[in-house]
Amino acid sequence: MKIIPVANYEEMSARAAEILLEQVRSKPDSVLGLATGSTPVGTYQHMVAAYQQGKISFAHCRSINLDEYVGLGPGDTASYHYFMWHNLFHHIDIRPENAHLPDGKNLDAQDACTRYDQLVSDLGPIDLQVLGIGSNGHIAFNEPSDHFVADTHIVDLTDGTINDNQRFFARREDVPTQAYTLGMRPILNAKLALLLVTGPGKAEALHRSLTGPITPAVPASILQLHDNLIVIADQAALSKF
Ligand code: F6R
Repeated sequence: MKIIPVANYEEMSARAAEILLEQVRSKPDSVLGLATGSTPVGTYQHMVAAYQQGKISFAHCRSINLDEYVGLGPGDTASYHYFMWHNLFHHIDIRPENAHLPDGKNLDAQDACTRYDQLVSDLGPIDLQVLGIGSNGHIAFNEPSDHFVADTHIVDLTDGTINDNQRFFARREDVPTQAYTLGMRPILNAKLALLLVTGPGKAEALHRSLTGPITPAVPASILQLHDNLIVIADQAALSKF
């Protein structure tokens, strides 16, 4: 594990984008594991800028996103589909057929999860997996639990996660209560995992994840087992170390 301490969100975003761009330069058909949420937005802005300046092409990349809300699809502005197109895919040259998220509109959970696992196994292993962390220690939507789950599955979001994500919705009642999420297997199998952490609200979760016992009660703690983990964290996020 390598921890890269940075001063702030902007520096975290710039460093993360450098690593992503280097990945794509060295392997243009990279499989990128991508995350949503506030954390990677700045990283995606750097990727868009590099593309617009003609420094990089994503034309041969494939992407696999971590998760999607059950019931939401590309037409819903709070969906992760919409987030990814709005923040990244519309502004770069990735081919639409190569950009993948779980199908939140497929309400047959077993079918949706099996299809996504098949896709991940066809494309994988992921070359570089971008991760954020929840204030409760979740990665993707693997919420604290008494067991780890290997494959794509449907999860009930915790009240804390619903509260954290309420900011993307008009009302708390609008936040879906379930999501489809990758399990731990493809995350651990990714050739490089890049965990981005910013702000004081993540300090406790980050500290427990990297220094505490490996336990499904703190899902990100499983990253201690990853062979090639880079953590880019700002001062506030590292304040408990
Ligand atoms: C998003 C995801 C989540 C977020 C986490 C942090 O695809 O899988 O695990 O990374 O909830 O969210 P932010 O960055 O909004 O604090």
